[in-house]
Amino acid sequence: MHGEPIDILQIEKTFGDKSVVSDVSLSVKAGEFLSLLGPSGSGKTTLLMMIAGFEFPNAGQICVGSRDITYLAPNRRAVGMVFQKYALFPHMTVAQNVAFPLRMRSVTTKDINRRVSEMIDLVQLTGFEGRYPQQLSGGQQQRVAVARALIAEPPVLLMDEPLSALDKKLRETMQIEIKRIQNRLGVTVVYVTHDQEEALTMSDRIAVMSEGRLVQVGSPFDLYQRPATSFVAEFVGKMNFLNGEYVEAELGKCRVRISEHATLSSDLVADGESEQYRLGGRVRVAIRPEDITITRRFEFGHTTDNVLRGTVEAVIFLGQAHIILVQIEGQGEAPVQVLVPSSIGHATFVQGETVDLVIAPSAVRLFPRGVGSVQ
Ligand SMILES: Nc1ncnc2c1ncn2[C@@H]1O[C@H](COP(=O)(O)OP(=O)(O)OP(=O)(O)O)[C@@H](O)[C@H]1O
Ligand SMILES: [Mg+2]
Repeated sequence: MHGEPIDILQIEKTFGDKSVVSDVSLSVKAGEFLSLLGPSGSGKTTLLMMIAGFEFPNAGQICVGSRDITYLAPNRRAVGMVFQKYALFPHMTVAQNVAFPLRMRSVTTKDINRRVSEMIDLVQLTGFEGRYPQQLSGGQQQRVAVARALIAEPPVLLMDEPLSALDKKLRETMQIEIKRIQNRLGVTVVYVTHDQEEALTMSDRIAVMSEGRLVQVGSPFDLYQRPATSFVAEFVGKMNFLNGEYVEAELGKCRVRISEHATLSSDLVADGESEQYRLGGRVRVAIRPEDITITRRFEFGHTTDNVLRGTVEAVIFLGQAHIILVQIEGQGEAPVQVLVPSSIGHATFVQGETVDLVIAPSAVRLFPRGVGSVQ
């Protein structure tokens, strides 16, 4: 079975007078794993339901392969779906639920039994075959739903937060299993999640949604390295934000004043927003925790460019790294988070210590303040 491409063209959806999906156009390639990522209420489920055929758009078009399926009934779309609310058949056992898509086809009982037991094993539910959905936990029900969707091997598979009820360890195992099966079958997957880590792990590309619109579509690496707006910057990965005032641009570099004594130079300016950067303009400075080098306070130096002075507020041990919270002088904002890998053994900073944070111009991203930002 090969995956089919999905083409979504200028989709609009309103409920009453409330616009829930606005002008969404998106092409998913055959065999691609694409995640819809966005906060609660941003329209992810609604968009998925329109691809599945359980909701119809007010305007726009959805094609799978070369077929226009915009108004086709769900069962005629060759599109599989794992619903946010599991939707298992309550009167069927786990094994019967998983076998259901195969019973609809001419598959021999022997083959059905073999594939069902393989799939149940894969989602780690061996021993639960005879149970009914109401005798299962939420996470177990979710896994039955995933097994039932995967066993059908549809050319297009839609999954709506299929792992949200699982604990972290099982969720990570299932992420890898789903990805492996998807790869093996070549199925096209549209996967909804509000967990950015999950989206980064699983996706070929991620489409970030906010308030019914697509904000940015790109590879995990693109979104992480080149977020188009401060919303994306904040939503994908961890990001520190500081308030700054635009000072000047010289030799292609922008410079921003962070406090009376500290300025930051940046190589990067968000595209198309340059007119925001005029003398005295208010900007949001975004810096990843891993792009900051923390040092004991420089003994002799005066404050230099791209060094922020601050005080250690707390040191948090995460296993593979420490997060050090540093309150920056002259910034009333939340403390800056600095990520220090645990392998750097000397990085033993203590609460109350004064430190310098060194930040390369290439790591300083600038966004206009108040536009497209989550405050
Ligand atoms: N049947 C409906 N009638 C009216 N409003 C609806 C309906 N379904 C969804 N909405 C509204 O549409 C918006 C988008 O909902 P949707 O379920 O698509 O969000 P979501 O991104 O999936 O959120 P979550 O992460 O919480 O699942 C919400 O404001 C929601 O209240
Ligand atoms: Mg939803």
